[in-house]
Amino acid sequence: MKIAILGGTGSIGEGFALRWASKHDIIICSRDVDRAIETADKYSGTVLSKGLVCCGISGCTNETGIEDVDVVVLSVPYKGMVPLLQKLKPFFNNQIVISLVVPMQKNDKFEYTPPEQGSAALEIKEILPETVKVISAYHNISARKLADLESNLDYDVVICGDDEDAKKTVMELTHEINNLRPLDGGGLESSYMIESLTPFLINLAIKNGLRDLGVKFL
Ligand SMILES: NC(=O)c1ccc[n+]([C@@H]2O[C@H](COP(=O)([O-])OP(=O)(O)OC[C@H]3O[C@@H](n4cnc5c(N)ncnc54)[C@H](OP(=O)(O)O)[C@@H]3O)[C@@H](O)[C@H]2O)c1
Repeated sequence: MKIAILGGTGSIGEGFALRWASKHDIIICSRDVDRAIETADKYSGTVLSKGLVCCGISGCTNETGIEDVDVVVLSVPYKGMVPLLQKLKPFFNNQIVISLVVPMQKNDKFEYTPPEQGSAALEIKEILPETVKVISAYHNISARKLADLESNLDYDVVICGDDEDAKKTVMELTHEINNLRPLDGGGLESSYMIESLTPFLINLAIKNGLRDLGVKFL
Protein backbone atom coordinates (compact mmCIF):
# COMPACT_ATOMS: atom_id res chain seq x y z
CA MET A 1 0.00 0.00 0.00
CA LYS A 2 0.97 3.65 -0.32
CA ILE A 3 0.83 5.39 3.04
CA ALA A 4 1.26 9.16 3.41
CA ILE A 5 2.01 10.59 6.84
CA LEU A 6 0.86 14.17 7.46
CA GLY A 7 3.06 15.23 10.36
CA GLY A 8 5.56 12.53 9.37
CA THR A 9 8.46 14.76 10.40
CA GLY A 10 7.21 14.79 14.00
CA SER A 11 7.32 12.55 17.05
CA ILE A 12 4.70 9.88 16.42
CA GLY A 13 4.91 9.96 12.61
CA GLU A 14 8.48 8.65 12.76
CA GLY A 15 7.50 5.37 14.41
CA PHE A 16 4.83 4.58 11.81
CA ALA A 17 7.25 5.30 8.95
CA LEU A 18 9.90 3.01 10.45
CA ARG A 19 7.49 0.22 11.36
CA TRP A 20 5.59 0.09 8.04
CA ALA A 21 8.47 0.78 5.63
CA SER A 22 9.33 -2.92 5.27
CA LYS A 23 5.97 -3.68 3.64
CA HIS A 24 4.64 -0.39 2.25
CA ASP A 25 5.64 2.73 0.30
CA ILE A 26 5.85 5.54 2.84
CA ILE A 27 5.51 9.23 1.96
CA ILE A 28 6.62 11.73 4.57
CA CYS A 29 4.55 14.89 4.17
CA SER A 30 5.50 18.31 5.47
CA ARG A 31 4.77 22.00 5.03
CA ASP A 32 8.45 22.24 4.03
CA VAL A 33 9.54 19.93 1.20
CA ASP A 34 13.24 20.08 2.16
CA ARG A 35 12.39 18.95 5.70
CA ALA A 36 10.27 16.13 4.25
CA ILE A 37 13.07 14.85 1.99
CA GLU A 38 15.73 15.16 4.71
CA THR A 39 13.50 13.31 7.20
CA ALA A 40 12.62 10.57 4.69
CA ASP A 41 16.34 9.99 4.00
CA LYS A 42 17.03 9.79 7.73
CA TYR A 43 14.25 7.24 8.28
CA SER A 44 15.43 5.12 5.31
CA GLY A 45 18.91 5.09 6.84
CA THR A 46 17.50 3.93 10.18
CA VAL A 47 15.52 1.07 8.61
CA LEU A 48 18.45 -0.11 6.47
CA SER A 49 20.89 0.14 9.39
CA LYS A 50 18.72 -2.43 11.25
CA GLY A 51 19.11 -4.85 8.33
CA LEU A 52 15.42 -4.53 7.43
CA VAL A 53 13.86 -4.30 3.97
CA CYS A 54 12.85 -0.75 3.01
CA CYS A 55 10.20 -0.53 0.26
CA GLY A 56 10.79 3.19 -0.07
CA ILE A 57 10.43 6.28 2.08
CA SER A 58 10.12 9.55 0.18
CA GLY A 59 9.45 13.16 1.15
CA CYS A 60 6.78 15.49 -0.31
CA THR A 61 4.75 18.56 0.41
CA ASN A 62 1.50 17.88 2.23
CA GLU A 63 -0.47 18.65 -0.96
CA THR A 64 1.34 16.32 -3.36
CA GLY A 65 1.98 13.61 -0.78
CA ILE A 66 -1.62 12.68 -0.07
CA GLU A 67 -2.83 12.42 -3.67
CA ASP A 68 -3.12 8.87 -5.02
CA VAL A 69 -2.33 7.09 -1.75
CA ASP A 70 -4.40 4.39 -0.06
CA VAL A 71 -3.95 5.62 3.50
CA VAL A 72 -3.25 9.04 5.04
CA VAL A 73 -2.05 9.06 8.64
CA LEU A 74 -3.05 12.35 10.26
CA SER A 75 -0.51 13.04 13.00
CA VAL A 76 -0.37 16.81 13.45
CA PRO A 77 -1.17 18.79 16.61
CA TYR A 78 -4.89 19.58 17.00
CA LYS A 79 -4.29 23.33 16.94
CA GLY A 80 -3.10 23.12 13.31
CA MET A 81 -5.51 20.41 12.19
CA VAL A 82 -8.58 22.33 10.99
CA PRO A 83 -6.72 24.93 8.85
CA LEU A 84 -4.51 22.18 7.42
CA LEU A 85 -7.46 19.97 6.41
CA GLN A 86 -9.38 22.89 4.92
CA LYS A 87 -6.33 23.71 2.79
CA LEU A 88 -5.81 20.08 1.76
CA LYS A 89 -9.48 19.24 1.15
CA PRO A 90 -9.18 19.36 -2.69
CA PHE A 91 -6.44 16.70 -2.51
CA PHE A 92 -8.60 14.18 -0.67
CA ASN A 93 -10.80 11.78 -2.59
CA ASN A 94 -11.36 8.26 -1.28
CA GLN A 95 -8.36 7.63 0.97
CA ILE A 96 -8.54 6.01 4.38
CA VAL A 97 -7.61 8.74 6.87
CA ILE A 98 -6.31 7.48 10.23
CA SER A 99 -6.61 10.16 12.88
CA LEU A 100 -4.31 10.04 15.90
CA VAL A 101 -5.20 13.59 16.84
CA VAL A 102 -5.96 14.38 20.48
CA PRO A 103 -7.41 17.82 21.26
CA MET A 104 -5.97 18.61 24.68
CA GLN A 105 -4.41 21.41 26.67
CA LYS A 106 -2.31 21.72 29.78
CA ASN A 107 -3.61 23.73 32.70
CA ASP A 108 -2.66 22.42 36.15
CA LYS A 109 -3.01 19.01 34.44
CA PHE A 110 -3.65 17.80 30.89
CA GLU A 111 -7.29 18.07 29.85
CA TYR A 112 -9.25 16.75 26.88
CA THR A 113 -10.73 19.68 24.95
CA PRO A 114 -12.97 18.21 22.24
CA PRO A 115 -14.55 20.36 19.53
CA GLU A 116 -18.33 20.83 19.37
CA GLN A 117 -18.66 17.76 17.10
CA GLY A 118 -17.65 15.64 20.13
CA SER A 119 -14.18 14.45 19.01
CA ALA A 120 -11.37 15.31 16.61
CA ALA A 121 -12.37 12.30 14.48
CA LEU A 122 -15.96 13.51 14.04
CA GLU A 123 -14.72 17.00 13.19
CA ILE A 124 -12.38 15.52 10.54
CA LYS A 125 -15.29 13.56 9.06
CA GLU A 126 -17.31 16.77 8.82
CA ILE A 127 -14.50 18.67 7.06
CA LEU A 128 -13.35 16.08 4.52
CA PRO A 129 -15.28 14.84 1.45
CA GLU A 130 -17.83 12.09 2.15
CA THR A 131 -15.82 9.62 0.07
CA VAL A 132 -12.97 9.72 2.62
CA LYS A 133 -13.09 6.93 5.20
CA VAL A 134 -12.11 8.30 8.60
CA ILE A 135 -10.69 5.88 11.15
CA SER A 136 -9.63 6.81 14.67
CA ALA A 137 -6.70 4.89 16.24
CA TYR A 138 -3.30 4.90 17.98
CA HIS A 139 -4.02 7.78 20.38
CA ASN A 140 -2.65 5.84 23.35
CA ILE A 141 0.66 4.67 21.85
CA SER A 142 3.97 6.11 23.00
CA ALA A 143 5.87 7.87 20.18
CA ARG A 144 9.20 7.03 21.80
CA LYS A 145 8.48 3.30 21.99
CA LEU A 146 6.98 3.17 18.51
CA ALA A 147 10.14 4.68 16.99
CA ASP A 148 12.39 2.28 18.88
CA LEU A 149 12.38 -0.78 16.63
CA GLU A 150 13.70 -2.97 19.45
CA SER A 151 10.87 -1.96 21.75
CA ASN A 152 8.19 -4.50 22.64
CA LEU A 153 4.82 -2.79 22.06
CA ASP A 154 2.59 -4.89 24.26
CA TYR A 155 -0.43 -2.59 23.92
CA ASP A 156 -4.00 -2.76 22.69
CA VAL A 157 -5.12 -0.36 19.98
CA VAL A 158 -8.81 0.51 19.95
CA ILE A 159 -9.91 1.32 16.41
CA CYS A 160 -13.11 3.23 15.68
CA GLY A 161 -14.70 3.92 12.31
CA ASP A 162 -17.92 3.77 10.34
CA ASP A 163 -16.53 1.98 7.27
CA GLU A 164 -16.00 -1.70 8.06
CA ASP A 165 -13.58 -2.37 5.17
CA ALA A 166 -11.43 0.61 6.11
CA LYS A 167 -11.44 -0.49 9.74
CA LYS A 168 -10.34 -3.98 8.68
CA THR A 169 -7.44 -2.47 6.71
CA VAL A 170 -6.29 -0.48 9.74
CA MET A 171 -6.62 -3.56 11.95
CA GLU A 172 -4.35 -5.44 9.51
CA LEU A 173 -1.84 -2.57 9.50
CA THR A 174 -1.88 -2.70 13.31
CA HIS A 175 -1.17 -6.44 13.30
CA GLU A 176 1.97 -5.73 11.26
CA ILE A 177 3.47 -3.80 14.20
CA ASN A 178 4.89 -6.32 16.62
CA ASN A 179 2.70 -7.19 19.58
CA LEU A 180 0.12 -4.44 19.03
CA ARG A 181 -3.35 -5.97 19.34
CA PRO A 182 -6.07 -4.21 17.32
CA LEU A 183 -9.53 -4.12 18.91
CA ASP A 184 -12.68 -3.05 17.09
CA GLY A 185 -14.01 -0.09 19.10
CA GLY A 186 -17.19 0.37 17.05
CA GLY A 187 -18.25 3.47 15.17
CA LEU A 188 -16.56 6.85 14.98
CA GLU A 189 -18.97 8.22 17.61
CA SER A 190 -16.90 6.28 20.20
CA SER A 191 -13.66 8.06 19.29
CA TYR A 192 -13.99 10.59 22.13
CA MET A 193 -13.38 7.80 24.62
CA ILE A 194 -9.99 6.78 23.19
CA GLU A 195 -8.95 10.38 22.47
CA SER A 196 -9.74 11.43 26.05
CA LEU A 197 -7.67 8.56 27.50
CA THR A 198 -4.45 10.22 26.29
CA PRO A 199 -4.41 13.21 28.67
CA PHE A 200 -5.52 10.84 31.45
CA LEU A 201 -2.55 8.52 30.73
CA ILE A 202 -0.13 11.46 30.67
CA ASN A 203 -1.46 12.72 34.03
CA LEU A 204 -1.17 9.19 35.46
CA ALA A 205 2.41 8.91 34.25
CA ILE A 206 3.38 12.28 35.74
CA LYS A 207 1.71 11.61 39.12
CA ASN A 208 3.21 8.13 39.45
CA GLY A 209 6.67 8.67 37.99
CA LEU A 210 5.99 6.36 35.02
CA ARG A 211 6.73 6.58 31.27
CA ASP A 212 5.11 5.46 28.04
CA LEU A 213 1.85 4.27 29.57
CA GLY A 214 -0.55 2.56 27.20
CA VAL A 215 -3.69 0.48 27.37
CA LYS A 216 -4.12 -3.29 27.65
CA PHE A 217 -7.53 -4.92 28.20
CA LEU A 218 -7.43 -8.17 30.21
N1 LIG B 1 3.61 12.09 20.55
C1 LIG B 1 2.86 11.07 20.98
O1 LIG B 1 3.31 10.22 21.80
C2 LIG B 1 1.44 10.88 20.45
C3 LIG B 1 0.79 9.69 20.72
C4 LIG B 1 -0.50 9.49 20.20
C5 LIG B 1 -1.12 10.50 19.49
N2 LIG B 1 -0.48 11.68 19.28
C6 LIG B 1 -1.17 12.73 18.50
O2 LIG B 1 -0.54 12.76 17.22
C7 LIG B 1 -0.48 14.10 16.75
C8 LIG B 1 0.98 14.44 16.45
O3 LIG B 1 1.72 14.39 17.65
P1 LIG B 1 3.30 14.65 17.64
O4 LIG B 1 3.75 14.54 19.04
O5 LIG B 1 3.93 13.79 16.60
O6 LIG B 1 3.32 16.18 17.18
P2 LIG B 1 4.55 17.10 16.72
O7 LIG B 1 5.81 16.31 16.69
O8 LIG B 1 4.50 18.33 17.56
O9 LIG B 1 4.10 17.55 15.25
C9 LIG B 1 4.05 16.65 14.17
C10 LIG B 1 4.22 17.41 12.87
O10 LIG B 1 3.05 18.16 12.60
C11 LIG B 1 3.38 19.27 11.76
N3 LIG B 1 2.75 20.46 12.31
C12 LIG B 1 3.01 21.05 13.51
N4 LIG B 1 2.23 22.14 13.69
C13 LIG B 1 1.46 22.23 12.56
C14 LIG B 1 0.48 23.15 12.12
N5 LIG B 1 0.09 24.19 12.88
N6 LIG B 1 -0.09 22.96 10.91
C15 LIG B 1 0.30 21.93 10.12
N7 LIG B 1 1.24 21.02 10.48
C16 LIG B 1 1.81 21.17 11.68
C17 LIG B 1 4.90 19.40 11.79
O11 LIG B 1 5.41 18.98 10.53
P3 LIG B 1 6.02 20.01 9.44
O12 LIG B 1 6.56 21.19 10.21
O13 LIG B 1 7.10 19.18 8.83
O14 LIG B 1 4.92 20.35 8.53
C18 LIG B 1 5.34 18.44 12.88
O15 LIG B 1 6.58 17.83 12.64
C19 LIG B 1 -1.09 14.99 17.83
O16 LIG B 1 -2.41 15.32 17.48
C20 LIG B 1 -1.04 14.13 19.08
O17 LIG B 1 -2.12 14.41 19.95
C21 LIG B 1 0.80 11.88 19.72
